[in-house]
Amino acid sequence: MKAYKILFLITFLSILNGCKKEKTVGLITEKAMVVSAREEASKIGSAILQKGGNAYDAMVATHFALAVVYPVAGNIAGGGFMVYRNNDGTKGALDFREKAPITAHKDMYLDSLGNVIENKSVLGAFAVGIPGSVAGVFEVHKKFGTLPIKDLIQPAIDLARKGIVVTENQADDLNNATERFKKVNNYKTVFENNWKAGDILKQEELAQTLERIRDFGKDGFYKGETADLLVNYVAELGGIITHEDLEKYEAIWRKPIEFSYKDYNITSMTLPASGGICLAQILKSVEPFDLSDIEHNSTKYIQLLTEASRRSYADRAHYLGDIDFVNVPIDSLTDENYINNRMKSFSWDKATPSSEVSQGKILGYESDETTHYSIVDQFGNAVSVTTTLNTGYGSKVVVKGAGFILNNEMDDFSSKPGVPNVYGLVGSEANSIASEKRMLSSMTPTIVEKDGKLKMVVGTPGGSTIITSVLQNILNVVEFDMGMQESVNQPRFHHQWLPDVIRMEPNGFDEVSKNKLESLGYEILERNSLIIGRVDAILVLPNGKLEAGADKRGDDAAVGF
Ligand code: DON
Repeated sequence: MKAYKILFLITFLSILNGCKKEKTVGLITEKAMVVSAREEASKIGSAILQKGGNAYDAMVATHFALAVVYPVAGNIAGGGFMVYRNNDGTKGALDFREKAPITAHKDMYLDSLGNVIENKSVLGAFAVGIPGSVAGVFEVHKKFGTLPIKDLIQPAIDLARKGIVVTENQADDLNNATERFKKVNNYKTVFENNWKAGDILKQEELAQTLERIRDFGKDGFYKGETADLLVNYVAELGGIITHEDLEKYEAIWRKPIEFSYKDYNITSMTLPASGGICLAQILKSVEPFDLSDIEHNSTKYIQLLTEASRRSYADRAHYLGDIDFVNVPIDSLTDENYINNRMKSFSWDKATPSSEVSQGKILGYESDETTHYSIVDQFGNAVSVTTTLNTGYGSKVVVKGAGFILNNEMDDFSSKPGVPNVYGLVGSEANSIASEKRMLSSMTPTIVEKDGKLKMVVGTPGGSTIITSVLQNILNVVEFDMGMQESVNQPRFHHQWLPDVIRMEPNGFDEVSKNKLESLGYEILERNSLIIGRVDAILVLPNGKLEAGADKRGDDAAVGF
């Protein structure tokens, strides 16, 4: 990260810290809103709503637009999760997470001595999971869409062909990735240039791929010319994705995780996303404590959330994996008695070292650059979608002749028990690699209700920090009475069991609290370049209007009416 960018970040977070007590208000609209990582994508989604489309139509349009305007994470060859709430109160979830290729196996990233081969699951064609995004948006449209899908894809095609205006953040991201694009690909990709803010990035090959999807539907991606280009290029680069892998991919409707926190009803994503289970565990651990006399982001607050997170992430590492492959005791893990027992070792007097915490004992088995967008439509339907290529620009493989980037989601599996992935997360057998299995995710698209009515739509990127960022934004609103933008602006912290450190955004926390935490045995990691999450959320205000929280840590923007 360049020095001026670090300086900007420090200034931004210092200003936020200085203004902590002031109410910053986000965009307020009467009826409908899209909040996403780029204004262009939010505008396209909002325009669909204005034409009479619903939140699901807007989701399709926003998703394809982000694949063009935000290629670091927006995608057609990644995957993700959606949680929805219709205006009649019905809720559900869609899993369009990537899968391991058919020929994938447990030890595929290990050398002959059984050690993990550095970068093999992160960079290049061997790191790619079978993409789920296109299947996901078509599945959503089939079930809930009202406008012709061609009209929802066309704005993205036009944007790819006309070109997008590169922002300063984007120029940095692209330039930082140039060497890796060069290393991985055997031709000069459209993303390699010496980018400056204001440059135009045109993606003609991507426009043509999107046209095939527009004209042939899901088959325009998983079959025919696009599939041929993908399979052949991956093979050229030493990957293992076949036509059969692509043809077999299906998005899956799942029952979301639903639980109460005080007067609120929370609905979040289930496995293979760990977000809902961990969010339930952490909020249930915090619920018995009276937060009214604990100051926001004070030593005590950070202690409580850290200890609850430590215990939950220890469970995550041991128990959680793809529910279609492993038996995960979801009910036991989210049971109040189990959670209260886990918190019994918590003391205000000193940190519980992670070495003393492992997974809890459950009664028995009953039968883990991403982007997030939140949408509320004029009919009262809400969708919360988190989608990713995993790390920025995924595997850096840009399909020759097709112009889109492939994910490196295979790194979200546990390549070897106890060996951390790029987010420092460790895993066990439950998240080991197997043919066609889905890798564990931390994504946490979430919807909050109060008194049976929609209250909040929230989610974020940030790898392992996704869960704790969503957690802190829910608590900011429900416990500390913040507005949506005010909440999103707050400095954030994170603990994930291992490594046993509290990560903090720079200059967001006062010295007294930090010193006190250190004296209690907590290790603090505060690096200048570290930002935690980019939360894009919508809050329904008491008067029924909508307030956006669009994260200023990125180029995120809300558009609505
Ligand atoms: O699914 C997961 O948990 C990760 N692949 C998410 C990656 C991510 O959020 C990167 N963004 N900053």
